Amino acid sequence: MSRVRTLATLGTALVALCTPIAALADPLTPTGKWSANTDGSAAVPPMGWSSWNAFNSDVDEEKVLASAQALIDTKLRDIGYRYVNIDDGWWLKRRQPDGRLLIRTSHFPSAATGADTSFRSFTDRLHAMGLKVGIYSDIGRNSCGQIYTPDFKNQPEGSVAEREVGLYGHVDQDIRLFFAEWNFDFLKVDGCGARGLPVDAPRVKSGLYRALTPLVDMQSLGGTDIAGIRRLYEQVHTALHTHAGDRPYVYSLCLWGAGDVRAWGKDVGNTSRTSDDIQPVWPRMLTNLDTVTHRALYAHPGSWNDPDMLFVGTGDFDAAHSAEARSHFALWAMLNAPLIIGYDLRKLTPDLLAIFGNADIVALNQDSAGNQAVLAYDSSEVQTFVKTLADGSKGVALFNRTASPAKAVLTAEQLKMLPTADVRLKDLWTKKEQSFRKEIAVTLAPHETLVFRATGTRRLPGGLYLSEQTGRVNPATDGVVVPQPDPTIYQSITPWTGTRGGGEHPQYGGWGGAEADRAPYGKLLRVAGTDFDTGIGVLANSRLEVRNQGYARFAAKVGINDSGQPRSGTTVFEVWGDGRLLAKSRPMGFGEAAVPLEAKVAGVLIVELVARGSGAAANAATPQPAIWADAALLK
Ligand code: GAL
Repeated sequence: MSRVRTLATLGTALVALCTPIAALADPLTPTGKWSANTDGSAAVPPMGWSSWNAFNSDVDEEKVLASAQALIDTKLRDIGYRYVNIDDGWWLKRRQPDGRLLIRTSHFPSAATGADTSFRSFTDRLHAMGLKVGIYSDIGRNSCGQIYTPDFKNQPEGSVAEREVGLYGHVDQDIRLFFAEWNFDFLKVDGCGARGLPVDAPRVKSGLYRALTPLVDMQSLGGTDIAGIRRLYEQVHTALHTHAGDRPYVYSLCLWGAGDVRAWGKDVGNTSRTSDDIQPVWPRMLTNLDTVTHRALYAHPGSWNDPDMLFVGTGDFDAAHSAEARSHFALWAMLNAPLIIGYDLRKLTPDLLAIFGNADIVALNQDSAGNQAVLAYDSSEVQTFVKTLADGSKGVALFNRTASPAKAVLTAEQLKMLPTADVRLKDLWTKKEQSFRKEIAVTLAPHETLVFRATGTRRLPGGLYLSEQTGRVNPATDGVVVPQPDPTIYQSITPWTGTRGGGEHPQYGGWGGAEADRAPYGKLLRVAGTDFDTGIGVLANSRLEVRNQGYARFAAKVGINDSGQPRSGTTVFEVWGDGRLLAKSRPMGFGEAAVPLEAKVAGVLIVELVARGSGAAANAATPQPAIWADAALLK
């Protein structure tokens, strides 16, 4: 950590020195543009099936086609499960000297089309079934299986060069092959090859693999080349642009929350993994869930958080554990995770189908507004998530993390609805309806998640709080100087180390940037002793981009959160519209009551909210928490 700190301090000093000449590159300068990724085809989170959780690398054509057929027979395809993705295990080798990738035809017989091998008839067949098809690669020279699970089946074969099946040095060639020639629609790019082959690794010393100086260190950002790893993933993005042509594609980043991907994944790919692999055990599901809960503002149409694929059907989430299976599924739906089934669909039971096929819950995930659920109530026992839907109604999940029954209360205020009017709830599992005023008490069975669709009278008529439209708010610059791992992530025992060693610390999935209805670092919103339950909390030296869907006015109360350190220094809040300054606060200091800040935004497409710190507020490793309380767009 000390090395990170030193680098950050150096960075701040360099920025300060360079600012006058490099003014154009100032990340706080409004651009009038939306900078999160919208390339590719992921206006809603991708849904489908993947071979990995079901079969690991023991994948073959028959298994894939059987699961594809099951998607059709069960009508899961018709409610959105369209992608059929092959993960690790498909490749045989990289032919020398021309570098063309060859397919393991013993497992994919339809690919045996001559010396070249081709997936084209395989993808044609799946396309003809009304499905889309995904393939898998690695950003380094070698695959995850080769490095971390060499005992798993179907590892690449041949000489050192032939076994280098990853994209490194072959980005253009491979992406052209996958998209222009083989016609795939989805690409997952893993990161193991950029991580596991240092010069002194036994697998390198033994002569089996060429060394590749690691760009990513899972445990430390000090040992990570953030710009270097980002550049590689950007190269793939560019190649997709070139070779997918006009065909829609999905680009799925798999860096497990490492490499500071928290800050840039949303600008580069359609989905970005926030954690290491999920396992079919309850504690691991908690770990993966926790890596996305504070990150609603980092997910938008075109760029989603990915806590990994579903394990519904297996282990702690099998048909005998319906509370757990339903919780896992409902939470993934609420948090706008890709809904990628990881189960052998040949074995699908009616109980499991009732979970995957719950169209009301799928509709929460696929809602066109694209708002990831926001954490309304948080504890280690019960959590309440609220998701604002395109029609103004709310998806609500009350989640019992514990193995004991738990009492919970849901309030109209948590839904941003009037407590004096009826709130109607429809239970999306039982379809039962009920209504309440002010609040309602429920009992949650162990590990149970109650999921409702709620309608009532909105507290803010004629407008929408920014925290109710997280899919349209992008922290282009979130003020984080020293990235930190999120300490609230449940630290489960990993199957890969067990309790050997010192324990796995949460990785750098993201902590301390912009949050909906909270201040940075999970703190509650409170300015000079006044509490707010609504707003955007962010650090000073930040710039938020907000898509304006036809509203006339922006209004907020701005100030420094009481959780702020340092207390000295000030922050100025500015509202910009399509690159023009519309309104500006006086410099706000710690302990001063929040002041109103309003601007006319009729006709403006992109509103930008800039918080500029000065003095200690700007130069600390943790800048002041700048609060846009009650921030809303109004008619
Ligand atoms: C991991 C990845 C998994 C799976 C696996 C294949 O790195 O997170 O989702 O793709 O590699 O070996």
